[in-house]
Amino acid sequence: MNVLWIFAHPEPRSLGGSLRDEGLSALRAQGADVRESDLYAMKWKAVVDADDFGRAASPDRLVVGATSKCAFETGELGEDIRAEHEKLAWADTVIIQFPLWWYGMPAILKGWFDRVFVKGFAYGVQRPDGRTARYGEGALAGKRAMVVLTAGAPEATIGPRGVNGDIGDLLFPLQHGTLWYAGMSVLPPLTICGADRVSPGQFEAAAAALRERLRTLAIQDPIPFRHQNGGDYDDDLVLRAELAPGRDGIGVHLDT
Ligand SMILES: Cc1cc2nc3c(=O)[nH]c(=O)nc-3n(C[C@H](O)[C@H](O)[C@H](O)COP(=O)(O)O)c2cc1C
Repeated sequence: MNVLWIFAHPEPRSLGGSLRDEGLSALRAQGADVRESDLYAMKWKAVVDADDFGRAASPDRLVVGATSKCAFETGELGEDIRAEHEKLAWADTVIIQFPLWWYGMPAILKGWFDRVFVKGFAYGVQRPDGRTARYGEGALAGKRAMVVLTAGAPEATIGPRGVNGDIGDLLFPLQHGTLWYAGMSVLPPLTICGADRVSPGQFEAAAAALRERLRTLAIQDPIPFRHQNGGDYDDDLVLRAELAPGRDGIGVHLDT
């Protein structure tokens, strides 16, 4: 197993940093090959600037093919982006770890997706029938992804009726709109709640939960997001009326 661990926390001695260390050790102990993108340690440039945008958005610099997973002409991209593409192409599994900040990911991680998931690499791939390959198909199809998250909120408050909203809803832009969009199978997230006050016993429980999720990475069932091109959506990409009748919102995109 080739695992790429994306880590977005400024402080290696944090809870998040300790869990990252546990996770990398566990993966290596189980024989996985592991590479890491520690975004703060790398001083990752988080903001797409005009130079990036010109390179990534210029269609005449793209070579997009339906048959190649990464048919992307990377010669024009910055060195830092090409290095991340090489790691992603190598990986069969990607862990994305961050603390929940204002209901989302730290800006440095958002900027990693903005700059790395460029057209032709992560999206914009055409199928032979002319449809766009996305939501379960596409450049990164065949890879697995899992979010590892710490959150200050107590567990009950990130449940379906909790005041913070359901964690699946909070993570919908990342898990559905980014990872699944690019074709990756998304495993259920591991969320460590109440993360601002963690006793040694609670840390050990969190580390044990992480080790168990990593041990079973290859066999866990992914979140059952619907495939865009699997027949559930009409020509306008709206869910067919007979599916999830009477319901709307984020949950209807799960085939449960
Ligand atoms: C800028 C900022 C925003 C935060 N926003 C949230 C939030 O929206 N929901 C939540 O549950 N916790 C929030 N927290 C708490 C963090 O998730 C929590 O401190 C962190 O996960 C603890 O892990 P750490 O010690 O490794 O940083 C926030 C913390 C900071 C610093």
